[in-house]
Amino acid sequence: MILPVVAYGMPVLRKKGKEITPDYPGLQELIDNMFETMYASDGVGLAAPQIDRSIRLFVIDAEPFAQVDEVKEEEKEKLKGQRVFINPIILEESGEEWNFTEGCLSIPGINEDVKRKSKIKIEYYDRDFNKHTEEIDGLLARVIQHEYDHIEGVLFTDYLSPLKKRLLKRKLENISKGKVNVHYRMKFPKK
Ligand code: NI
Repeated sequence: MILPVVAYGMPVLRKKGKEITPDYPGLQELIDNMFETMYASDGVGLAAPQIDRSIRLFVIDAEPFAQVDEVKEEEKEKLKGQRVFINPIILEESGEEWNFTEGCLSIPGINEDVKRKSKIKIEYYDRDFNKHTEEIDGLLARVIQHEYDHIEGVLFTDYLSPLKKRLLKRKLENISKGKVNVHYRMKFPKK
């Protein structure tokens, strides 16, 4: 089932998600629905707060980035496939900071460069609640950092300069008022 994507301005996007346990009601179906919603809206990642659940869960399939010519072959392989992150903790961020143009399904029509460190060490549970600790770099790390921010109540626009924020203010207000053109279903703040 495709779920509506929560738009910028909804309070749930600003909350810290709660940890979940393996008996979280309907977890497997929720994960399937999140992937379905992500694919339907052409996203590479989707975090639970974006479908109005304040929990520590996000899904990723960065396959579209594997189509980009500039991406190295060995990195392409890592980008493919579904990944589920439950109760993740980024233990460490390292490496050089690099810029990448980010976007977000909750903030349609806005794409801006964000600087992040290139490498992360992350601990998480997969959909079967097996624990993993992994070191990840490159584009996959980037997508994880963005989704991880969502479960911390952080949005990529928070990193922009005060000037950039001022320039985008009207656009962001319009998104929160539902004045936006998107091809997928969204949920907007109540007036
Ligand atoms: Ni996002």
